Amino acid sequence: MNVEEINKMSYPDFVGYINQWNVLPGAHVTLSKWAIFSRMDEKSKILQFACTTGFQARELSILTGCTGKAFDLSQQAVDMAIYNQKRYAPNSQITYFQADGTKLDLKEKFSHVIIGAGFQFFNDPKEAIRKTVEYIQDGGYLLASPFYIKKNIPQSLINEFKTVFGITPTVAGYKDIMSMFRDLEILYEDKNDLVEETEEELQHYCKCTIERACEIRQISDPLVKKSMFDRLYRIKEMSNKLRPYQSYSVLVLRYRKSVYPNRFVELF
Ligand SMILES: C[S@@+](CC[C@H](N)C(=O)[O-])C[C@H]1O[C@@H](n2cnc3c(N)ncnc32)[C@H](O)[C@@H]1O
Repeated sequence: MNVEEINKMSYPDFVGYINQWNVLPGAHVTLSKWAIFSRMDEKSKILQFACTTGFQARELSILTGCTGKAFDLSQQAVDMAIYNQKRYAPNSQITYFQADGTKLDLKEKFSHVIIGAGFQFFNDPKEAIRKTVEYIQDGGYLLASPFYIKKNIPQSLINEFKTVFGITPTVAGYKDIMSMFRDLEILYEDKNDLVEETEEELQHYCKCTIERACEIRQISDPLVKKSMFDRLYRIKEMSNKLRPYQSYSVLVLRYRKSVYPNRFVELF
């Protein structure tokens, strides 16, 4: 891989290439809430949409003993999810595979389907949520952690985000996001603000991730190494700039055949 190739890679492939642990909003804290409020345990069978390098499925399996499947569109990301499982969670029984969530055709159901904020990276987020419901068994759960905006993001930042990530950030407010989940029962919800990271925190995270990536990929060329660091730093810096405008909620939603797609419980 040379400098040009590093810079040309799509965002999801770059994440896979450097094995970034591309986490959901709230990271471990959100996983703990999901596990507790959806009563996840070793009998649970999970399906993760858009797993990137495997963080959510892997860590939930360590936390609860659950088993299951996880997939992503990016083969690079899936390869690293398998690598991470071997290195960091050798006892976890999650099968990772490459697939396009919009065309997924599995013949089984799961106790928990996990989407995190991943649906916001699909071309049609509402359709992505509908698709997840196809795989939830009666009485099972959808676990999400969507971003929403609390004040308008300046157009200049939206444009900058697009050049770094290749997609537009969520500009939907809280009610717009929640309306996408209106067919499901809300069993648990909380709302969270994001704290900006300091330059030192960003540097430390990027340094650790790129050192490991260079070890995995056996890269010693300082120019290639620097281009990997710089691209990751731009990604992190961009996400950080959006933080004052964003919040996220942690959601445990239930699918019940006898209720879906109605709302019989008023919102409080
Ligand atoms: C930034 S990550 C998700 C962020 C984080 N893991 C979370 O859940 O909050 C977005 C991922 O969605 C994947 N993705 C986008 N469209 C997809 C699709 N149609 N099918 C499967 N994965 C898709 C991308 O490959 C990328 O790895």
